[in-house]
Amino acid sequence: MTDHNPALENLLTETRSFPPSAEFAAQANSTPELYEQAKADRLEFWADQARRFLTWDKPFSEVLDFSDAPKARWFGDGTLNATYNAVDRHVEAGNGDRVAILFEGEPGDTREITYADLQREVSQAANAIEALGVTTGDRVAIYLPMIPEAVIAMLACARIGATHSVVFGGFSAEALYSRIIDADAKLVITADGGYRRGKPSSLKPAVDEALTKGTTTVTNVLVVRRTGQDVAWTDGRDIWWHEALEAASAEHTPVPVEAEHPLFILYTSGTTGKPKGILHTTGGYLTQAAYTTYYTFDLKPESDVYWCTADVGWVTGHSYVTYGPLINGATQVIYEGTPDTPHKGRWWEIVAKHKVTILYTAPTAIRTCMKWGEDVPAEFDLSTLRVLGSVGEPINPEAWMWYRRVIGGDRTPVVDTWWQTETGAIMISPLPGVTAAKPGSAQTALPGIEVEIWDDAGKAVGPGGGGYLVINEPWPSMLRGIWGDEERFKETYWSRFPGTYFAGDGAKFDDDGDVWLLGRVDDVMNVSGHRLSTTEIESALVSHEWVAEAAVVGAKDDTTGQAVVAFVILRGEALEAAEAEGGDKVVGALRAHVAGEIGPIAKPRSILVVAELPKTRSGKIMRRLLRDVAENREVGDVTTLADSTVMDSISAGMAGGGD
Ligand code: WTA
Repeated sequence: MTDHNPALENLLTETRSFPPSAEFAAQANSTPELYEQAKADRLEFWADQARRFLTWDKPFSEVLDFSDAPKARWFGDGTLNATYNAVDRHVEAGNGDRVAILFEGEPGDTREITYADLQREVSQAANAIEALGVTTGDRVAIYLPMIPEAVIAMLACARIGATHSVVFGGFSAEALYSRIIDADAKLVITADGGYRRGKPSSLKPAVDEALTKGTTTVTNVLVVRRTGQDVAWTDGRDIWWHEALEAASAEHTPVPVEAEHPLFILYTSGTTGKPKGILHTTGGYLTQAAYTTYYTFDLKPESDVYWCTADVGWVTGHSYVTYGPLINGATQVIYEGTPDTPHKGRWWEIVAKHKVTILYTAPTAIRTCMKWGEDVPAEFDLSTLRVLGSVGEPINPEAWMWYRRVIGGDRTPVVDTWWQTETGAIMISPLPGVTAAKPGSAQTALPGIEVEIWDDAGKAVGPGGGGYLVINEPWPSMLRGIWGDEERFKETYWSRFPGTYFAGDGAKFDDDGDVWLLGRVDDVMNVSGHRLSTTEIESALVSHEWVAEAAVVGAKDDTTGQAVVAFVILRGEALEAAEAEGGDKVVGALRAHVAGEIGPIAKPRSILVVAELPKTRSGKIMRRLLRDVAENREVGDVTTLADSTVMDSISAGMAGGGD
């Protein structure tokens, strides 16, 4: 176990409190009774939500079967279709004209897609992918920019019962290849490219490269034309999305699947080099995605304009762009690009233009906007905003206060929502209209969710105590496993405290019993709200011929939360070259190599060439000491090092600006 984030430990004296206004409370979806109802009969509470938020083809009679723990079955004898719930039933209910997606392309192009449009396009896409031989139970890899087709592709898969595996468009060909192989995907859906920072950036070449890395089960590649750039074409394999859709019927009957049918796989970093394919199924996942969207954001589907800024490549984009809002029949904004293109007010311009009422984003984005200054958002009318959400990493109280004051006009509730790819949906969050919010704390488990904080010995701590966050009762949207690796599933989450879900996060209760998340306690880093594994980046570094050994740590960063800092030992020849040509060239090449192996998000902020790494006598790298160096702290206890002088030379190298 590595240590907690010490920077956060002294925040527990927070006394500011923001109770809901009377007006907000009077119209809120949430009520204090929700907690009482869930407490009275947790399973019946969830069964109620499953009936209320979803339309079932065959109603369920079982609620939870945990006899095969840790694998849960929720609503196991019911059947339903995710896409029918997200799209068709809203059209049937007479809301076909309601706008589902307000799309803003980065170059300024826009699209307004109603629920009726969505039904048509998703049906065509479902027919098109069925025509390519994809059927219920197959896997489809989706590698797209943040354009409506990303959501449409996911819904088309779910409509026929094919399991989607969305791979973030910023990942490399190598990362895409390993995910295609792990899931045995039959089809890849991609685009020629997307717009990023004012220019077209390409995607299809990475798919082409991935498919030449080895034999795969992929038979076709469906290509959305987004930028119009030239693309290489493999006849017989590659098909234009628009041509396939034009040729397809706009009528398609959604395929009802069992509640436990795999809806999607999403890969996330763990503590080893190999990403884990987190498996989510249909009925329980959709129940909690819809329930949390409705209550934590106080969503009123008829009148709100909701915007979650996450990319569908991450779990937040699955639960709070594709499924949660659409199941609720909401109107939402999707924006393709970065917040600073073509100017630093782009997000706020979009909020003003579409009169956005609910905004859900990450602390790293808020801190970036803080850096740009409050006069940027001040130029836009943000008065329609009424709920603000945060996710992905601990939000520091300064950023929380800034978010509420500058973006929320000192008026909006701010909900800091804790959850994970594995939990599928929000688990800990204030409820707007009910909870008196406390800057920097996620506060309370949602009604129906049971969390505790345990000490090393597995004993629950009370107010004022700290330790490991655990979830001690199954929840509907819990992961059902790691794709193809049942042992790893048990080992990673259920063995630290046998039979109880171990989240991998450190946490504390303050004296009021509110939860404060303190960051990961394992070798998972959190950079801009994206999970990265130290081991995965170390493996990428040592796969370069110049590198003999590498150690990676997450160092505190004012904007991105954490930043990747690497320490490498070079092989003889590379070291000579570095000495001859200057270290910058070597470091630049290694950073580019990591980007190629994993993706640009994994690129180390700095790489320090060292002669030795600090190791214990048993050969374990002491990352704690490297983190001290990377964060410019005095190096901690070195007595367990095999050679205690190693740290002196590393510290000297860092002080000399070793990168
Ligand atoms: C961290 C993202 C503090 C945490 C939804 C968790 C948070 C990991 C918060 C999951 C929050 C997420 N406060 N920490 N509100 N939200 N985290 O799988 O360490 O990409 O374990 O899911 O992000 O990241 P993931």
